[in-house]
Amino acid sequence: MKIAVLASGNGSNFEALVKNNIPVDLLICNDEQAYALTRAKKMNIPYQLINDKDFENNKLYNQKLFEFLKQTLQADDLIILAGYMKLIPAEIIDYFPNIVNIHPSLLPAFKGLNAIEQALVYGVKVTGVTIHYIDSKMDEGVIIAQQAVTIDDDENFNSLLVKINAVEHQLFPKTIKRIIKEKYEKSID
Ligand code: GRF
Repeated sequence: MKIAVLASGNGSNFEALVKNNIPVDLLICNDEQAYALTRAKKMNIPYQLINDKDFENNKLYNQKLFEFLKQTLQADDLIILAGYMKLIPAEIIDYFPNIVNIHPSLLPAFKGLNAIEQALVYGVKVTGVTIHYIDSKMDEGVIIAQQAVTIDDDENFNSLLVKINAVEHQLFPKTIKRIIKEKYEKSID
């Protein structure tokens, strides 16, 4: 069983997975500026840049991504989206059924971009983190784990981001360990 992580940006969740002993085989990144690439180099995790700017359109980028995934992984391997900012097309989801995403809200609330800001603007008192399998609609698919985060009266974006990240960095590795155990019958300390 192989594990590939897809990330587009900072990569703190990718790092939290690696630091918590998730056996990540490969990081795939669509942005050459992404700090996730630096983290991969520092942690000695193999990485592959598929720069979406090198492609005329998203369809061609996704074709390349699909080709690369098929060359690198088996269909039942685990693909983890950790801050991957692009939609995975249906043909990739049909081929790879085990694609897991992390989203910084309690889905189905606050789908899409800027979920943390959306929760603040709406004025909810509780938001959180969701880990789910993906399907072809954005931020839908079977929910695997959720954890709530309280929004205090004086909360601002930065303070809430810190709280959400802290929950993500422990819930994500814990949940991936559970998936590895239940689906692939391997246990990780
Ligand atoms: C996280 O908040 C995750 O929930 C969302 O994108 C963010 C990625 O952060 N999907 P990082 O790149 O892992 O630091």
